[in-house]
Amino acid sequence: MNYRHAFHAGNPADVMKHAALARVLAYFTRKDAPFRVLDTHAGAGLYDLGGASALRTGEAEKGIETLLNAELAPDVAQLLGPYLDVVRNLRAQGGRRYPGSPALALALSRAQDRLIFCELHPEERAKLEKRLGDDGRAKILAQDGYQALGAHLPPRERRGLVLVDPPFEEPGEFHRMVAGLEAAYRRFATGVFMLWYPIKDLQAVDRFRREVANLGLPKTLRVELDFAEVRKRDTLSGSGLIIVNPPFTLAEEMRTILTAISPLMAFDGKGRVRVSWLTAER
Ligand SMILES: C[S@@+](CC[C@H](N)C(=O)[O-])C[C@H]1O[C@@H](n2cnc3c(N)ncnc32)[C@H](O)[C@@H]1O
Repeated sequence: MNYRHAFHAGNPADVMKHAALARVLAYFTRKDAPFRVLDTHAGAGLYDLGGASALRTGEAEKGIETLLNAELAPDVAQLLGPYLDVVRNLRAQGGRRYPGSPALALALSRAQDRLIFCELHPEERAKLEKRLGDDGRAKILAQDGYQALGAHLPPRERRGLVLVDPPFEEPGEFHRMVAGLEAAYRRFATGVFMLWYPIKDLQAVDRFRREVANLGLPKTLRVELDFAEVRKRDTLSGSGLIIVNPPFTLAEEMRTILTAISPLMAFDGKGRVRVSWLTAER
């Protein structure tokens, strides 16, 4: 396990994922009923974009840095508000800190909500514990994220979001995600499931989409953003999210957000957005 998210924090793929995560949690908080977040691959929780790892790749420049400096139309600014407010509040405390999914989810949750973060890498987990472990709503586990899908679902609250965001450094990750989704859905059919994937190997992505569609889950949304036109086999040209049971507002919200921000974040100044249903809505 060599992957370290600090090199990639705040890049366009992270922005897209975190914008969607924030929209789902903003929707959940419309009702008082508590919810649970299960983040199967949590990472270190919070990052320093001024630190050596982030500066080495500079990936956040085309991502969150561009977004923070952009003039957004009012509807886009409003949809991105919950996410960008968390980022701005962190910065107001000094430095160039950026929330990973755990810090973002905690910031958007309330006293009655609970969060489980799984992180297998001991150093990343130690950072996560140091940075966010004091929050009594969070449980940080040294557990395999895919096993956690079996162990922690369904949540007591019967309302919740499962984020599956693996590093894709080992072969077979797409397949593990499909198998994990199938097993998790069987246990928690009303949950919202969000799976992140890289667009690098187009054939693998096509196969993955087909396998997800073949599960036949009733409401499965595909959201993709391409940052680069030329797709070299080993270069990240975009990223995607599969979202099962999205809030009914999410497809349109993500279309609005990504259509506005893709020209800013794409390397050719254009960017392509795809928001479509893999399985028909019921
Ligand atoms: C892409 S990063 C997570 C980023 C995070 N979700 C965010 O948005 O800020 C993936 C993380 O999964 C961890 N990891 C890898 N395999 C795992 C597994 N089987 N179970 C749990 N964590 C794992 C890696 O150490 C890495 O920190």
